[in-house]
Amino acid sequence: MLTLNLADFSLEHFLAHYWQQKPVVIRQGFEHFVDLISPDELAGLACEAEVESRLVYKKDGQWQAEVGPFASYQHLGERDWTLIVQAVDHWSPAVAQLVAPFSFIPKWRFDDVMISYATPGGGVGPHIDLYDVFICQGSGRRRWRVGDLGNHRQFAAHAALLHTDPFEAIIDVELLPGDILYIPPGFPHDGVSLEHSMSFSAGFRSKSGRDMLSGLADYVIDKELGNALISDPGRPLHQNQGQIDASDFARIRAQLQDILDDDKLVADFAGSFLSRSKCQLDLQTLDEPLDDSALLANLRQQALIRTGGLRCFYLDQTVAQGICHVAGERFDFGPDCHGAVLALCDHESLDHALLQRWLQQPEFVHALTQWVNDGYWYFEE
Ligand code: SIN
Ligand code: CO
Repeated sequence: MLTLNLADFSLEHFLAHYWQQKPVVIRQGFEHFVDLISPDELAGLACEAEVESRLVYKKDGQWQAEVGPFASYQHLGERDWTLIVQAVDHWSPAVAQLVAPFSFIPKWRFDDVMISYATPGGGVGPHIDLYDVFICQGSGRRRWRVGDLGNHRQFAAHAALLHTDPFEAIIDVELLPGDILYIPPGFPHDGVSLEHSMSFSAGFRSKSGRDMLSGLADYVIDKELGNALISDPGRPLHQNQGQIDASDFARIRAQLQDILDDDKLVADFAGSFLSRSKCQLDLQTLDEPLDDSALLANLRQQALIRTGGLRCFYLDQTVAQGICHVAGERFDFGPDCHGAVLALCDHESLDHALLQRWLQQPEFVHALTQWVNDGYWYFEE
């Protein structure tokens, strides 16, 4: 099990002073850290069509980026290139171990574990991310420079590569295996590999208001909600035909506000929307599906493990009714399953002792069976 080691400050101090505020180097955040996947395995994953990957290198001084899957890496030579693979926690249980040490931030904020392998001189160039990231150095050394927030110009160094102008460093460090660099959104940064090296980046996501509203609009349409029309009985005489006056504007705003004020609607939407995974999951459906009693018999013998990257959440507004959201879908198990929903969403692994109190609830057991048959959870073996 990976344990985060904060020698210089507590997690509370990190959250109060660094999270979303300023970058920091955490020396030996993971003591005795060894690569959670080998460069060869990573290169193999990037040959799979389901896995998102990129190669970044320079050719004749020009930045180049290629999107996977890749058939070979032989044309790349010994230096100045990097391979980046997204959401490796979805494909490798060993890499998924990097998620738990960051559980002091709720899982709905978590995005994925991105891994880069870089040859000497390799890197993706100076850029700005919209995400918080903990870059954990695996094997080899990498030099990282981080600049301050500011009005940094961004430009396409290549169609698939958004760069920023050179910046003055507020952090300029060599990361060694086990060191962690935390970078909040908006801080320009640039990592250059000093030798063959691996970086494991635990990335967090946040949504813009635009993303949330667009998702909410899709949800409202899909569920046929928000049908109330603007109504205006008792309207006073109107003078100017072209005018939408202040009281009409208030009606329009109130109509939209009524949707946003519906806590249940917004909670159901947010749970479903935020529990969707951005990248594909490695769902191994069972060749011989289980029925509910076989599921219960197996659970007495082995624990269930949540498939890497599967997102399941509950909200304070609705959890007392046994409502949870798994991979974009809403499940309503009723108030008797309140505790089952907490266990399901708060634990990566589910065993008989943890779930025992709810194994008499047929709807919950049936959903669990279906999830196992679909590969959302799998037996540990
Ligand atoms: C990398 O690991 O090479 C890139 C990580 C980043 O800067 O976001
Ligand atoms: Co970055």
